[in-house]
Amino acid sequence: MASAADPRDEVSALRETLRHHNHRYHVLDDPEISDADYDVLFDRLVALERNHPELIDANSPTQRVGAEPLPEFASVTHFQPMLSLDKCVSAEELGDWDARCRNRLERDRDLEFTCEPKFDGVAVSLQYRKGELVQAATRGDGQTGEDITANVRTIGAVPLELRGDAPDLVEVRGEIYMPITGFHAFNQAALERGEKPLINPRNGAAGSLRQLDPKITAGRPLSMFAYSVGRIEGAGVPARHCDVLAWLAEFGLRVNPLVERVSGVAACITYVESLLARRAELDYEIDGVVIKVNDLELQQQLGAVTRKPRWAIAFKYPAEEATTVLKAVEFQVGRTGAVTPVARLEPVFVGGVTVSNATLHNMDEIERLDLRVGDTVLVHRAGDVIPKVVRVVAGKRPKGARRIRRPTVCPVCATPIVAIEDEAIERCPAGLSCPAQRKEAIKHFASRLAMDIEGLGDKLVDQLVEAGLIDTVADLYRLGVEALAGLERMGEKSAANLVAALQRSRETTLARFVYALGIREVGESTALQLARYFGDLDPLMKADTDQLLAVNDVGPVVAERIRAFFAAPHNREVVAGLRTAGVCWERHEPTIEARAPLGGETWVLTGTLEQMARSEAKAALQRLGAKVAGSVSAKTTCVVAGPGAGSKLAKAEQLGIRVIDEAALQALLGEHDAG
Ligand code: IVH
Repeated sequence: MASAADPRDEVSALRETLRHHNHRYHVLDDPEISDADYDVLFDRLVALERNHPELIDANSPTQRVGAEPLPEFASVTHFQPMLSLDKCVSAEELGDWDARCRNRLERDRDLEFTCEPKFDGVAVSLQYRKGELVQAATRGDGQTGEDITANVRTIGAVPLELRGDAPDLVEVRGEIYMPITGFHAFNQAALERGEKPLINPRNGAAGSLRQLDPKITAGRPLSMFAYSVGRIEGAGVPARHCDVLAWLAEFGLRVNPLVERVSGVAACITYVESLLARRAELDYEIDGVVIKVNDLELQQQLGAVTRKPRWAIAFKYPAEEATTVLKAVEFQVGRTGAVTPVARLEPVFVGGVTVSNATLHNMDEIERLDLRVGDTVLVHRAGDVIPKVVRVVAGKRPKGARRIRRPTVCPVCATPIVAIEDEAIERCPAGLSCPAQRKEAIKHFASRLAMDIEGLGDKLVDQLVEAGLIDTVADLYRLGVEALAGLERMGEKSAANLVAALQRSRETTLARFVYALGIREVGESTALQLARYFGDLDPLMKADTDQLLAVNDVGPVVAERIRAFFAAPHNREVVAGLRTAGVCWERHEPTIEARAPLGGETWVLTGTLEQMARSEAKAALQRLGAKVAGSVSAKTTCVVAGPGAGSKLAKAEQLGIRVIDEAALQALLGEHDAG
C-alpha cells in the first residue's frame, strides 16, 4: 500500500475503513471483505500507530483490548433502573395482559405491539456521550450494576463510537450473548487444551464478562443485540419502540432482524409460534418472546409496578435444560458395531417434550462428566436434537452412587470389545454375526434414502431377525405373505402390503443401492459420486484403491473401507443374493461431473418445505449434480425458499441470487426425473 504523505491522513482513513468493515461483519452480519484482507488493513494500522505513538486514539479499532487487568469492578448506578419483565406461558395469560393494558388505556381497538426474541444472555447498559462509549454496566440489582466497560469494549458488535448524529447522551440497553456456534467452537478448543468447557452459552457470556482481565474476554466469542434505551439527552425520543430500534441501528448498534410490529394479541401468538418453530435455527439462545406496546406515549401511560413495566411482557418458552436423575446406563450397538452408552433417565419435561433417554456419546464422555448412576444430571434438548446429558449437578450425589464400567464384551453378542486407538469409541468386532449389527444393517437398507421399503420399520426388523426369518438383507426378498402373517401384530393385509413394497423396491438406482449396503463412511452423497463415476456395480466392486481415489469425495480412508467391504466374501455373497432376488438398476455410462444438469452449481435450502422432506430435496438436487450448501454466499446459484425463510433469503435477495419456491423446485426435479 502506498503511504500517504501525512501518516495522520492514512491513520484516519484506515480507522474509517476498519470501522466500516467491522460494522458490516459484526453488526450487519454481511462482510464485504475477507478476514485476511481485514487483517492486512488492521496490521497496517497497528504498524502506523506503533511508529507514530502520538496518533494513538482510545477509540481506534486497534485499542479494543485495554492494557491492564482490573483489581475489581467498580459499581455503577443506573440513570434509570433496569427493569425486569412479567411472564406468561399461554395464549390465555397473554390475552389477560392485553385486556389489562386496554382497560387501563380505555381502548377497544387492538393495540400495536412489537414482538421480539427474548435473548438468553446478560443484560447490559451502554452509556454513549457525544457518540463515544464511556461506560458499560451489568444490570446488577436493577439500580446498581458493575462497570464492565473494559470487557465490553472488546466485543466487535459494540461500536466504540456511534455513527452519524449522536445525541449528547444515550443509554443503550441490550443483551450480550455468546453465539451457539462460537460456544461449541470455544468448548472444542478448550477440551483439546485439556481445559474445562463452558456449561452453556448463557453462562459462557456471563463468565466472560466477569473477567478482570479484558484480554480473556477478548478471546471469547461474544455479540450483542440492542433492544431499548434509557436516558437520552440532547435529542428527541422517537415516538414508537420500533422507531427506537431503527434509530439504534442507524447509530451502528446491532438490532435483531426478527423484530416484528404486529396489531392485536392474536398476531402476537402467531409470532410466538413461528419463532418457536425457528428456535433451533438461530445462532443464539432465546427463552421466549418479549411483547411490548409499540407507542411510547402509551407505555408512559401504562407505567410500571414494582420494577416491572405494565407495557411489556415475556412469553416464556419451555426450558431447553432441566435436571433429573440418572437411573441407569445401557450400552447400544450400532450398525458399524460402535458401542454407545445411553442414559436412562427419570422422565423430565425439557425442550417441550418428555425425555427419558439421552445420549452419552462414549465412555470418555462418561469419565469426563464423572457420571454415576443415581446422580442428578442436567439434560439439554434443543429442537429435534437428541437429548444430551451436559453435566452432573454437584453436591447431589447420593451415597452409593454406582460407577459406570467400561464394557469389555459386546452387550448383545458377548464378543470381546476392541478399543480403537484415536477413536473414542469401543467397537464390537463381530460385524454381521452380531445380531444387533445385523438388525441395524437391515434397518439402514430399508430406510427411506436407501431402498425405501415402505412398511418395514425398526420394530418389524427386530421381530424378523428375532424370529429367525431373516439373517441378511438378501433374505428380505424371500419373505412370503404366509411367513409374515404369522408374526405378532401382522395381519394378512399388512403382510401382503409389505411383500408388494419389497417387490417395488427391487427396481432402484445404483446410488441408492450402494448407500443401502451400509459401507462405513459411505453416505448418500459419496454413494452418489461412486454411482456416477462407475456407472454400474461390477466396476465399483473391482475398483482398486487408485481408481476409488479418483472419485470426488473419496479419500484414503473411504477408499479402503470400500475395498475392504467388497473383498469380504460374506458381503459378496449378500450382493450376489440381492441380484439373484431381482434387485436391479439402470446402468449408465460413467458420467463426468459437468454433464450433470446442475453440475458445478451450489444450492441452498431455507425455510420450511411442505411437500417433501429437506433431506429428500437435498438428495434430489445432489442427484442432479448440485452441491447443497448451508449458507448463502456469492457462490450460491439458487436458493429454494419456503415459508419462514429469514436471513438466508434476505441475503440472497441482497446479492441478487435466484430464489425459487418449492413448487418451482418440484417442477425442475420433475423435468429431470429426479423427484
Ligand atoms: S426489554 C422493561 N427486550 O429480559 C423492558 N428485555 O426480564 C425490559 N431480555 O434481563 C427489557 N431479551 O435482559 C427486553 N428483547 C428484549 C429482551 C430482554 C432479553 C432480558 C433482559 C432482562 C430480562 C427482563
